[in-house]
Formats: sequence, structure tokens, C-alpha cells
Amino acid sequence: MNEISRNIQLRSFTENDIPLMAMLANNEKVSRNMRDGFPHPYTLEDAKGFIWICRQQDPVIALAIEFDDEYVGNIGVSIGNDVYRKSAEIGYFIGEPYWNKGIATMAVDLMIDYAFGKLGLARLHTGIFEYNPASMRVLEKCGFQKEGVFIKSVFKNGRLWNEHRYALINPKWKHEF
Ligand SMILES: CC(C)(COP(=O)(O)OP(=O)(O)OC[C@H]1O[C@@H](n2cnc3c(N)ncnc32)[C@H](O)[C@@H]1OP(=O)(O)O)[C@@H](O)C(=O)NCCC(=O)NCCS
Repeated sequence: MNEISRNIQLRSFTENDIPLMAMLANNEKVSRNMRDGFPHPYTLEDAKGFIWICRQQDPVIALAIEFDDEYVGNIGVSIGNDVYRKSAEIGYFIGEPYWNKGIATMAVDLMIDYAFGKLGLARLHTGIFEYNPASMRVLEKCGFQKEGVFIKSVFKNGRLWNEHRYALINPKWKHEF
């Protein structure tokens, strides 16, 4: 385990995370990469509401990312319905002051263990907007494979963009027929 991996953990949210979450999430360089459900500007009320929702979850599917015992971002999965109930979409953000330290890569690795182990999921997937190579790199470092590009599927900030779709299969389910 390298230096960075010892300092990163996932944990449940607490009310103490509200001010930092609002501060780090209130950044156009973050929100431009997220769905429109991620507000901009991002207020204290938004953080409070998000944490309230997360605290009702059973099982817990959204977690705080801690680096050196400090809140630095969020990571979560959204589990599919009906025939998609063994699949989940993964999503995450790291506050800008903490970028390029390997934190997202470690957090995604930890979430993979949680999603495939504790949640028993067979597949994680997500779509990344074409202008976000850092997030594509994170997923590639974590073993995700690019499954295709959905042309002009995203309408964000008044423009159409391609979306790069990535997925990772739980090795336990790989040979299931
Ligand atoms: C994308 C994001 C999660 C990355 O977090 P991070 O903690 O900086 O990621 P890591 O440090 O683990 O890895 C980043 C990798 O991208 C690379 N990278 C960074 N900027 C890049 C760029 N412009 N082009 C190509 N690669 C880039 C880094 O060099 C690093 O790869 P390396 O380890 O091979 O050098 C973070 O920037 C973020 O939260 N962005 C806003 C929200 C977002 O995009 N969420 C994901 C939505 S799909």
C-alpha cells in the first residue's frame, strides 16, 4: 500500500461535512462534469439536504471521501431497477484543491470493493462527458473498460456533447450464464 492509499477512506456523511461540502461543490469546474441534478451554485442548504437523504439510505450508497482525516469529496452508486438491479451507476467528485493526488482513483477502488462485496452488484458503469479526460483516466486506472461513445447524448450548458460509457464487471459474475 503506498502513502496515499493509507490516507484515504470512505465513511458515512455527518452534519460536520455540510460547510466543506458546500464550499468544494460550489465550483463550476466540478458542476460542469456532473448531471444537472448537481446544483450550481451549490449552497449550504443543498449540502444539508443531500446529507439528510444519504442518512436515510439502507443500504448506504453514498459516502464521504476522507483524505488525511479531512472531508474532500463524495462518491456513490445509484442501483438500477427491475432487470438492472445488479447494475449501478457510479458517480464522484473531489474538491479542486485535492485534484491529481490519486484520491479519486483510490476512492473508486474502495467503492468497487464495497459495491461488489457488500452490495453484491455485478456491474458498475457510468458515462463521462467528452471534455473530462481526468475522470476517464481514473476509471481506466481502476480497470473499467470503455464500452462505447454515445454521440451527442448529453445536453449540458446549452450544448450537445458525446458521452464516453465505461463499465466494470464483478469478476465473481464474469462467467455467469
Ligand atoms: C475527475 C476527478 C474526480 C479526478 O479526481 P483526482 O483525485 O484528481 O483523480 P486522480 O488523481 O486519482 O487521477 C487523475 C488522473 O487524471 C489525469 N489527468 C488530470 N487532468 C488530465 C487532463 N486534462 N487530461 C488527461 N489526463 C488528466 C492525471 O494525470 C491522473 O492520471 P495519472 O495518475 O495517470 O497521472 C476530479 O477532477 C473531479 O472531481 N472533477 C470534477 C467532477 C467530476 O469530473 N466527476 C466525475 C464525473 S464522471
